[in-house]
Amino acid sequence: MEARWALITGANSGIGEAFARALAARGWSLLLTARDEGRLADLTRALTQTYPTQVFAYRSADLADPATPLHLAEWAAQTAGFVEFLVNNAGFGSFGPFYELPADREVEMVRVNVEALTELTYRFLPPMLERGRGTVLLVGSVAGFQPVPYMTTYAATKTYVERFGLALWYELRRRGVRVYVLAPGYTATRFHERARMSRRPPFRTPVATPESVVAECLRQMERRPDRCLIVPGWTNRLMYRLVRWVPLSLVVRAAGAMYRSR
Ligand SMILES: NC(=O)c1ccc[n+]([C@@H]2O[C@H](COP(=O)([O-])OP(=O)(O)OC[C@H]3O[C@@H](n4cnc5c(N)ncnc54)[C@H](OP(=O)(O)O)[C@@H]3O)[C@@H](O)[C@H]2O)c1
Repeated sequence: MEARWALITGANSGIGEAFARALAARGWSLLLTARDEGRLADLTRALTQTYPTQVFAYRSADLADPATPLHLAEWAAQTAGFVEFLVNNAGFGSFGPFYELPADREVEMVRVNVEALTELTYRFLPPMLERGRGTVLLVGSVAGFQPVPYMTTYAATKTYVERFGLALWYELRRRGVRVYVLAPGYTATRFHERARMSRRPPFRTPVATPESVVAECLRQMERRPDRCLIVPGWTNRLMYRLVRWVPLSLVVRAAGAMYRSR
């Protein structure tokens, strides 16, 4: 049987790693990428030992480097031929007053969360369109449902992901290529430590595991393949609906009060 290939960015940790494990268990052959070589090598080894599948890693791929998406797409074409499932997952955030955060990190965030995701989607689409089949999954966030003071750049990048994904879903819906936006809520990964979020938001957000987020995502994709936006967890879905009913100025104030640094 011909191998079906999926490429996962940010595959060596958290949600990306959970995608790698879940897809390997479903028989997908995998192309994995991230910067930390050690973690990527460990995961590749663990997957090939556990599942009868092919796993290749593109190492030290910094998606903040504008050259990376093209190199990654070329490597994927050489290694696998046709990539049928693109998981645009790599991303990071920052926390604090915007003007106090290091400028280069904020710009890097836009490069990784927005620019690289856009270019990778662009580069992996043509073979999918040619064959009339393929899936592009973009990892957004509940943070993208509204502006979030003190996570100002991050929330804006995730709003982009949601809007970009929904519009692309419409464009491609009759071309055999599915586009999904996964918008998780608070999930227990290294994300918060890396974003230097010292504490959880004050409201009692349930904490999901990366495995539960990915399981819910894959379940929704199977059950409702024609729906673009996937929001795991009923409180997150409620939040999604609420922010559409309340004036944006109030939503920003509420979000600001919740996320204000102490
Ligand atoms: N955790 C949450 O609560 C939550 C909620 C909503 C959405 N999300 C989104 O979920 C996605 C995955 O995050 P996570 O929670 O799983 O966090 P994580 O455990 O920190 O994983 C982030 C992944 O992105 C990779 N990455 C970061 N910067 C990169 C760069 N410059 N170039 C290439 N790869 C890079 C990291 O690998 P290297 O550092 O080795 O490169 C890592 O594999 C992100 O898009 C995040 O915004 C997370």
